[in-house]
Amino acid sequence: MASYDVIIIGSGPGGYVCAIRCAQLGLKTAVVEGRETLGGTCLNVGCIPSKALLHASHMLHEAEHNFAKMGLKGKSPSVDWKQMLAYKDDVIGQNTKGIEFLFKKNKIDWLKGWGSIPEVGKVKVGDETHEAKNIIIASGSESSSLPGVEIDEKVVVTSTGALELPKVPKTMVVIGAGVIGLEMGSVYARLGSEVTVVEYLDAITPGMDGEVQKSFQRTLKKQGIKFVMGAAVQSVEALKTKAKVNYKLRKDDSEHQLDADVVLVATGRKPYVDGLGLDSLGVEMTERGQIKTDDHWQTNIKGVYAIGDAIEGPMLAHKAEDEGMAVACVLAGQHGHVNYNVIPGVIYTHPEVANVGQTEENLKDQGRAYKVGKFSFMGNGRAKANFAGDGFVKILADKETDRILGAHIIGPMAGDLIHEICVAMEFGASAEDLALTCHAHPTYSEAVREAALACGDGPIHS
Ligand code: NAI
Repeated sequence: MASYDVIIIGSGPGGYVCAIRCAQLGLKTAVVEGRETLGGTCLNVGCIPSKALLHASHMLHEAEHNFAKMGLKGKSPSVDWKQMLAYKDDVIGQNTKGIEFLFKKNKIDWLKGWGSIPEVGKVKVGDETHEAKNIIIASGSESSSLPGVEIDEKVVVTSTGALELPKVPKTMVVIGAGVIGLEMGSVYARLGSEVTVVEYLDAITPGMDGEVQKSFQRTLKKQGIKFVMGAAVQSVEALKTKAKVNYKLRKDDSEHQLDADVVLVATGRKPYVDGLGLDSLGVEMTERGQIKTDDHWQTNIKGVYAIGDAIEGPMLAHKAEDEGMAVACVLAGQHGHVNYNVIPGVIYTHPEVANVGQTEENLKDQGRAYKVGKFSFMGNGRAKANFAGDGFVKILADKETDRILGAHIIGPMAGDLIHEICVAMEFGASAEDLALTCHAHPTYSEAVREAALACGDGPIHS
């Protein structure tokens, strides 16, 4: 039996980042991980592999649609699916091995196997029980299905199965127009699948700024993705090589059916806490099955902490990472802090969609006086040169103080551009602060500055 200052259960972005920071702060640290490789859902079957496929399929799209316009003539590339999957797997391998290297470098022990907490201060992995002054649960989340829908990861798949289909399907139905559905739907639409997204609500990407939702859906439609909105999926019948999706339109309760080679169920994720022994330990949970924590990420059981997808808040890798670093600071006797008002969200489609802070809808609900500064990428020289003029930057600022309250971007590199606004918000900046900051020309970032200018005396290029 080994004894540690901290044992972390789970090696996803929450767990591994937490472990590295704990070790850097002088704590004797171990991580329990049952997968063959480190990195959790994000590195193995989530963020990283999906980005590889998004990148490859975007390159194909560029070759098919924009190369000839730039004078790049020749046959468009064809898809070697096996090779594309091998490229994706190679990317996964490089990243998971990278974490293994960082564990060695920081002298973090990897306890291989699935962990449980038989009592406070103890973590059981396989037949061995280890002692820990503190235990951090970073066990992540798993796909949640619908009643009447059985996942076989062959014909009816979650995001995991969607990352390793044996071939590019001719037809695909995606249930749920959230982040996963639209990212994976985009991949297959670009690779030639006929993709239909069936969504319960009347707008895609719930919780996102309304104007962005509309513009985003228009863009995806132009790319060939079909949408059935206001449709509640009732059941999916999986046949051998096909599936039938039964849904009801909410407006008139009429029943409809769609056939597809593959059905992707992307209706959300739920905390993964199976087998941890939380019940017998007496850990308090929320009604939605999340672990309840206090301001220091401690559960109601002293010495047992939880972070990431297993607790409340957005299920985002970077939110988990921030919590991991913060809880490490708390355990080392320092101050741990996460600003939940400034957590960016990104959808890695093309164009990308990114947001931070309040939406217009939130501000209206709060009865808050605000102003809007908007700038279209059509007025950005760099975007025009790169066939990336679709989309806009929208900054929301307090009407009186000019303080930035939120930002929404649909357009090229939106996921990177959002961060200058995050930094500005973190420092309590006004839109004018951003507008007065010199931005290099010609960059996409100039569109951010122009949106900030639009909160004041007006943008220059529109
Ligand atoms: P989601 O919660 O984002 O979207 C699920 C969608 O399914 C909703 O629009 C919902 O209205 C719809 N839906 C639910 N039941 C339905 C039914 N019976 N019929 C039709 N539609 C139905 O969930 P998603 O996309 O599965 O993502 C799960 C989590 O993973 C999210 O928290 C997301 O933020 C995170 N994630 C983040 C990524 C990123 O940051 N780029 C990438 C992938 C996942």
